[in-house]
Amino acid sequence: MVQRYTQLCPVAFGTGAVSTTGDVAKELGLSKVLVVTDENVEKMGHAQKVVDSLKTAGIDPVLFNRCEMDAPDYTVQAGADLAKSEGVDGIIGIGGGSVLDTAKAISSLAANSVDVAALLDFSRKMMPLENPSLKLILIPTTSGTGSESTIIAVISDTKNHEKIGAITPPSFAIVDPELTLGMPKAITLYTGMDAFSHVCEALTSVQPNPHSDILCYDTIERITKWLPIAAADSMDLEARENLALASNNAGIAFNDAMVHLGHAIAHSMGATFHIPHGIACALVTPVILELTAPVYPEKVKKIGTCMGLTIAATDPQKIGREVADNLRQFQKQLGIPTLQELNISREQIIGCTDYVANEGLRFLCPVPATEELIAASLAKIYDCYQ
Ligand SMILES: [Fe+2]
Repeated sequence: MVQRYTQLCPVAFGTGAVSTTGDVAKELGLSKVLVVTDENVEKMGHAQKVVDSLKTAGIDPVLFNRCEMDAPDYTVQAGADLAKSEGVDGIIGIGGGSVLDTAKAISSLAANSVDVAALLDFSRKMMPLENPSLKLILIPTTSGTGSESTIIAVISDTKNHEKIGAITPPSFAIVDPELTLGMPKAITLYTGMDAFSHVCEALTSVQPNPHSDILCYDTIERITKWLPIAAADSMDLEARENLALASNNAGIAFNDAMVHLGHAIAHSMGATFHIPHGIACALVTPVILELTAPVYPEKVKKIGTCMGLTIAATDPQKIGREVADNLRQFQKQLGIPTLQELNISREQIIGCTDYVANEGLRFLCPVPATEELIAASLAKIYDCYQ
């Protein structure tokens, strides 16, 4: 079988990389840019570093700090309106996953004459807008989504309570681990487990490839080793460097290999219960490993090996159970909350079945995701992690 893989865009990686933003923007031929962020990232001084670097390079910055969690459609519209009225020729997103996704959608909308509702309609049909997006530089301040190296922006359709994937390729990613120093423990954990889920699903989707596989296994090793250290000491730079690299590599990996049923379920949980994406990902990943072990026993076994486990089992189902149980234990030790602790009942989680059944990502699961299987997987999240 012929398998395709690529690296979507150049990446500048390393401590202090944010100070090169102006040079990168210049390389891309930009003269006036919209710097997309949120109030929190602005308060931490990260957006100012971007603004300073742009000014030094002779590029005119316009600040938009109104991003919100889960990238709601109205913030995309507000940012695109500002981009158009200011006549910018590029967009820079600096922040967590929601900020980067908002910046991505703004770059699409700012280059076209339609509104955000039309962008979401086009995205539902997997159709591009008429004009290509404005040039887009993405700078993550968390280590989780890998959004800086993927073509998908997950936008919340606030009228229909849906999360829609809009396609927008970034032009350049700047990954500076220093920006993640001091991140609160909870955000460190949730974002880290989001990246972990990306690679578990990329390894077990219907379209894996050898390039993504290599990045995925490396990501599992790094997260297993460094996430507990980063959670214990928010200022450990070596841990932050490893998690930043893991998250970016995970993004590159799943941009080709894709995620599948785990993220269909995580999106349903996010849209229904408004819980952080990373918690939903963490809770569903063991279930996905058990589900796909019969299809990919050697891969799931290797996931376990990368987690430092010695898996003696040879039966695929036993391999799946062993790796899944160890992952649940790892998450328990880190403090990932259970559904009960989140006040979500068994009935409520099974109630997400319809949402998941209408999520396109489920088709990338190597086991046919029937309604029965979806309901059983949702129940398992509740039953197996208490
Ligand atoms: Fe994710």
